[in-house]
Amino acid sequence: SQPYSLLILPGDGIGPEVMAEVRKVIDWFQANRGMRFDVSEDLVGGAAYDRHGTPLADATMAKAQQVDAVLLGAVGGPAYDSLDFSVKPERGLLRLRKEMDLFANLRPAQCFDALADFSSLKREVVAGLDILIVRELTSGVYFGEPRGIHADDNNPDNEGGRVGINTQRYTSGEIRRVARAAFDLARKRSNRVCSMEKANVMESGILWREEVQWVHDNEYPDVELTHMYADNGAMQLVRRPSQFDVIVTDNLFGDILSDAAAMLTGSLGMLPSASLGAPMANGRPKAMYEPVHGSAPDIAGQGKANPIACILSFAMALRYSLGEGAAADELERAVEKVLADGVRTADLMGPEGGTPVSTAQMGDHIVAALAG
Ligand code: NAD
Ligand code: IPM
Ligand code: MN
Repeated sequence: SQPYSLLILPGDGIGPEVMAEVRKVIDWFQANRGMRFDVSEDLVGGAAYDRHGTPLADATMAKAQQVDAVLLGAVGGPAYDSLDFSVKPERGLLRLRKEMDLFANLRPAQCFDALADFSSLKREVVAGLDILIVRELTSGVYFGEPRGIHADDNNPDNEGGRVGINTQRYTSGEIRRVARAAFDLARKRSNRVCSMEKANVMESGILWREEVQWVHDNEYPDVELTHMYADNGAMQLVRRPSQFDVIVTDNLFGDILSDAAAMLTGSLGMLPSASLGAPMANGRPKAMYEPVHGSAPDIAGQGKANPIACILSFAMALRYSLGEGAAADELERAVEKVLADGVRTADLMGPEGGTPVSTAQMGDHIVAALAG
């Protein structure tokens, strides 16, 4: 059979540091589990801008469309913050998501038992937690038109004379397809979906609620569906997160709610994600796998970053793109074992302290745990 084709885009800041540890894991599966990988690596974000003057070269975009899975580290950083909006590192990431049409972003938040005391919430609130946020990723206020910064000429009362515009826009079709993804996933879990929007103040929120309900009533009546305003949802996530199974929400609310969910697991450095699109010719979805965290400029270059979010993102690639569910389980168990053994990067240090391991040491421990 063909080797699995992977495009690795390490990006900026801690991106290359955490991705180096994923490479060790890929090498291990290649050497020990008879898997063959055809890996190519390319630039994205600030690194691509430095080389090509654009955060994503067309050739890289074309390559991403062809592989079984894209693995992305992180993009952005202070060196690029003053660049023109059109060439900011983040634009490269958004172009990948949009042109690959990766509309369903799966952000699982699982609290490993060994980390229940490191969450900023009480152990009894987070122990055993296993929720999945399904974030719409290719529409909403991130992409809606009109957008821009304009002179506000006809408004003499506007001090400064400018206006910044973004548009929250959703079509019924965009809502239905991400709702289906959420209901399908719920059927493999605890069969419950909570949809979050602000139907009390936004027409796009009213449409969201109606369309999610329509998909439920017509196609998934067996799944339990509830609706919640997103502000209450944020509060409920930290009050009693275990009430949720699958949460489905829009692009912006999903971005914010998933960072909040990260702290339930102990650290943003723990949260993986899968960005999935429509099935390709081989029946598997177009896909990119990316940790939820960013380039962490405050710790970049110091060997302090936690590589687990990126490694667990690769586990999701094994499961959703490569049909290697058993290997995904094996990798997740290796991470769990290392944490149970007390191995911690600096972000996972509790009040009692201890000596943190480096990014590379954490990767080595996980590979050693794989080997058993
Ligand atoms: P961030 O996620 O980079 O960092 C937030 C905090 O979490 C920092 O204190 C950081 O040190 C810590 N952190 C993040 N990942 C960690 C890890 N793996 N191990 C240990 N600690 C970790 O968010 P930010 O500081 O708001 O953004 C920095 C840059 O990253 C910005 O340019 C932003 O646009 C970009 N960003 C990119 C992505 C992405 O590429 N997917 C996601 C979020 C932010
Ligand atoms: C994320 C990030 C991105 C987003 C940025 C870097 C474009 O915060 O993946 O969560 O807002 O989607
Ligand atoms: Mn984010």
